[in-house]
Amino acid sequence: MTVTIVGSQLGDEGKGALVDIWGGDADVVVRYQGGDNAGHTVVQDGTEYKLSLVPSGAVRGKVGILGNGCVVNPETLFDELDTLREKGLDPDVRIARRAHAILPYHRVLDGIEEEVKSDSDLAAGTTKRGIGPTYEDKAGRRGIRIGDMLDPEVLRERLEYVVPQKRAVAEEIYGLDVDESDHADAFDVDALFETYNEYGRRFREESMTVNCGDFLGQHIDDGDELLFEGAQGTSIDIDHGIYPYVTSSNPTAGGAAVGTGVGPTVIGQGEVVGIVKAYLSRVGTGPLPTELDGDDTEEELADFIREKGGEFGTVTGRPRRIGWLDMPMLRHAARANGFTGIAVNHIDVLAGLDEVKVGHAYELDGEEIETMPATTERWGECEPVLKSFEPWDEVDWAAVAEEGYEAIPEAAREYLEYVSEEVGAPIYAIGVGPGREETVVRANPFDSQ
Ligand code: GDP
Ligand code: IMO
Ligand code: MG
Repeated sequence: MTVTIVGSQLGDEGKGALVDIWGGDADVVVRYQGGDNAGHTVVQDGTEYKLSLVPSGAVRGKVGILGNGCVVNPETLFDELDTLREKGLDPDVRIARRAHAILPYHRVLDGIEEEVKSDSDLAAGTTKRGIGPTYEDKAGRRGIRIGDMLDPEVLRERLEYVVPQKRAVAEEIYGLDVDESDHADAFDVDALFETYNEYGRRFREESMTVNCGDFLGQHIDDGDELLFEGAQGTSIDIDHGIYPYVTSSNPTAGGAAVGTGVGPTVIGQGEVVGIVKAYLSRVGTGPLPTELDGDDTEEELADFIREKGGEFGTVTGRPRRIGWLDMPMLRHAARANGFTGIAVNHIDVLAGLDEVKVGHAYELDGEEIETMPATTERWGECEPVLKSFEPWDEVDWAAVAEEGYEAIPEAAREYLEYVSEEVGAPIYAIGVGPGREETVVRANPFDSQ
């Protein structure tokens, strides 16, 4: 009845491609956390769609939901919807009334705080989309929810309470002369009211908002199939990730229950599929034990993988850092999410190397450990214990995708089987290229229930 797709590593594992494939069998595709910090690439019939907020399933004509656990920037939402319509699609997207809205001051404060932190080791390298500040306000009970935007009186009351506080933070803590800056409107109650009231009107007029738990519960009662689309990844989860170099939500599978109003017993009866990239890539800051940056040879290898794998941020265009696959990180993800299956992407990118390695374990204080330490400082002290694999040659990956698993080069299959065994979950799919058809699908999680 439900399939939850979760990033196993640091985000950008290629979740969009799998959501797109399996989303074909779902009736509803639901995002349960994050906002327009996500960047999911979906390629269909040669057209590439880059989505940061709209659920990937919208490209497939499914009902797309932004759950209560999401933070929604209405400007991004309407821009993406308009772009999809220009490309000839007719997306049906509904937003939870309990989801929190990102306001312009959240973006401004995200940018300022990152700049302040850049003098220390604490900057997370955020996407500057206002994600963290919006979740802060949610927890601080001063957020503005999508449902609040539907009623002009409530919206104004909320703005009148919170905006002076935000202005004071910007001016008195960060020393910004708000009225003389480019951001005066971001801290002005009347300007904000006008814009957000208009978004609210559009939400109402287009019947775009739902009581998420009720809406999904109805679909479940009707026997519909639900796909929960995680954004980001386990190691940048605010609870289970490498704090403070994390995002401010819970990409892990538990987030699917909290972030939608569908109970954990329902989600737990379904499948939880971890999406794994065959190596690591990372846009943000912080340690990375298996990073390829030790010497010129490693840096050349990282450049090669970066170019071949197109490892530049979907949202920000930043070059991503590159490392070998990190097994302790995957074991941690398997436990935190309870994977019933995995998909391993990008094995084509590693083809043609002289040697393929994985970080099998870590060495910490002279001892070998197999999972991640709980503090990021200790994680940064870990030295990877590398394991070498036979490399595999470049092949015609489109032909491999057509022929199936046995057509994958034997050395690559050994690599895959090692990963599956260590993670303790079967491989449902293998990504051999960016397109939807460049995937070897071994199982459909909707069929295995
Ligand atoms: P997401 O955020 O997890 O959905 O992933 P992104 O879309 O940000 O990044 C994944 C990138 O890799 C996209 O450009 C995909 O088109 C591409 N991609 C996904 N799977 C594969 C694969 O198996 N091989 C290759 N070469 N590219 C892939
Ligand atoms: P998808 O869904 C990779 C990273 C940022 C930064 C940290 C906090 O495409 O996998 P934020 O803006 O969320 O406050 O930034 O999290 N980050 C991602 N990295 N993929 C993503 O999403 C990410 N979303 C946020 O780079 O280190
Ligand atoms: Mg991405």
